[in-house]
Amino acid sequence: MIEAFKSTVYNCGVIELGKHHREQGNLTVVENNITIPFEVKRIYYLYDVPGGESRGGHAHKELHQLLIAAGGSFDVIIDDGNVKRTITLNRPYYGLLIVPGIWRELINFSSGATCLVLASEKYDEADYIRDYDIFKLEKLQNRLAVV
Ligand code: TYD
Repeated sequence: MIEAFKSTVYNCGVIELGKHHREQGNLTVVENNITIPFEVKRIYYLYDVPGGESRGGHAHKELHQLLIAAGGSFDVIIDDGNVKRTITLNRPYYGLLIVPGIWRELINFSSGATCLVLASEKYDEADYIRDYDIFKLEKLQNRLAVV
């Protein structure tokens, strides 16, 4: 597991999930500790995001997540307090792994987009850092909780 205060955007990345192609349609599988380096304890999805709206705007202390554009497309800005990267998700057979200690913003949702999120822990508001200045300070001072 990555220590949140040490994580960088380079610890995040797009994972190719693979695709079982049939003439009748495609199927993609995600398996704990095989396709992704954590065990899924929670699944949620964002949908009906109005045009021009953004989601996210926080970091997590311990949570690992895989974000998938199950439908449509959106951009994810990941930020470790030092470097920012923008990743476009627009295929259901790719997932973006986000490790702890990374600020994220989800923007540019296409009409009808669905963002499927696989998460390594149950919901815990105490795991969130919702203030960017605090995030940046904690990151700089290496004070984010060690996982
Ligand atoms: P939040 O994580 O802030 O959404 P986003 O990052 O997509 O903008 O969550 C929005 C609201 O939903 C917040 O009030 C907490 C609630 N929520 C839960 O109750 N359980 C969950 O698993 C999640 C992800 C959010």
